[in-house]
This record gives sequence, C-alpha cells and structure tokens, in this order.
Amino acid sequence: MCETPKSGDLLDWYDQNARAMPWRTAPADRKAGHLPDPYRVWLSEVMLQQTTVAAVRGYFLRFIELWPTVVDLAKADDAAVMGEWAGLGYYARARNLLKCARAVANEHDGAFPTTHAELLKLPGIGPYTASAIASIAFDRPETVVDGNVERVMSRLFAVQTPLPAAKPVLTDLAAKLTPSERPGDYAQAVMDLGATICTPRNPACGICPWINACQARSSGIAASLPRKTPK
Ligand code: ADE
Repeated sequence: MCETPKSGDLLDWYDQNARAMPWRTAPADRKAGHLPDPYRVWLSEVMLQQTTVAAVRGYFLRFIELWPTVVDLAKADDAAVMGEWAGLGYYARARNLLKCARAVANEHDGAFPTTHAELLKLPGIGPYTASAIASIAFDRPETVVDGNVERVMSRLFAVQTPLPAAKPVLTDLAAKLTPSERPGDYAQAVMDLGATICTPRNPACGICPWINACQARSSGIAASLPRKTPK
C-alpha cells in the first residue's frame, strides 16, 4: 500500500532542490515574505509557453535589461519588441505581450491584478498563465497544470486513462493536492519534480520525495505513464 502524498514532503524537497531561474525568488526568500515581481513572472510565463527554460533564459534577461518594468515595456516601440522576440517563435505571443503591458500600464496603473479572474481578462493570458501568475507572484492557492504536472499526477495516482481524455481527472487530482500554504512554491515544485526526477523516460524514482506515495512506482509502471491516445 502507498502512503497518501503530502505536499509538505514535496515542499521540503523543493527547499533543497529548487532550480535557480532569473524570474524566481528562492524558497528561503519567499518564506521571508519576498514574492517575485509579477512583471517578471508574467514575462517568463509568456515566454515559457511552448519554449524550454534553457531557450527562454537569455531572452528573458535581455527583455528585463531593456525594459525593467511593465510600464517601460508598455512604452516600447513595437518593432523593437518584435526584434528582441525574434527566434522565440509563436509571434502572436509578442504582439499580445505588448497589448497586455499597455493594458496593465494604462488600465491598472502599472500593477498587475492579483486574482485569476482579473488576470484572465488581460490579452494573451489564458487559464494556465492566470493560475501561474496568481500562484507564483501572489501566493494564491491556484492549481497550475502543465505537461510536467500531468505526468506527475498520472504516475502518483496510476491514472490509466490516456491523454488528452485524462486531463480533467489529472487537473482534479492536482487541485486536491494543492496546499493553502506556500501554493506558489508548491506549483513550481511540481514542475521541477516533473522536469528533473519524474521525467518522461527513466524517471529517477530512487530520489523522489514521493516515492512511498507513488502508485505507478509501486506497480512498476511509472515509465509507461501517462498513456497517450495515438494521433
Ligand atoms: N514552465 C512554465 N513555468 C515554469 C516555472 N515557473 N518554473 C519552471 N518551469 C516552468
């Protein structure tokens, strides 16, 4: 029998193993009350849609150097922003980035709204990005579900239903596990677990903080989950 997964076990792991990223605040600093700048969280989340952390890093740092605040970005020349975006792909993201920066600057006095519902009204911010910003930048108990999180949940609870049909079930499981304390760290911890330990191939179950809670691991099927409906 498996243990019930505890969000605290994952948070303890994250305290020791959080990946350093230029848009993040380290767990110890977050615990001391220092949340990251919402502008940096938003910019990174938009860049990370369909793009890897490694590819985003340099672009993110250049944008922050050129436009340190959302108001600076709102005032930027369209062509300059499109030029700096070149290479990241999915150019609709860059056009929406400018629209969103201008909406925040002009309609919200330069301060990002803090709730999922308000964030969702901004250009280019969909349900995933709204949850990510609300949880990471404002520590709201929102559930953030990306491909990493789907994989972790499918294994933890040995969900045999293939993706994409399994999405609502996996989202529900992820929501039930989301703690009301440190939800922003928790969201990033699940992503880091999926990126570094609960990987698509050869998961490193031996060093996983949830090894004793993982139903797929206990049945020896971790690497075969999540199942996918063939295209
Ligand atoms: N992918 C998207 N958002 C991320 C984040 N905040 N940390 C790590 N990977 C991510």
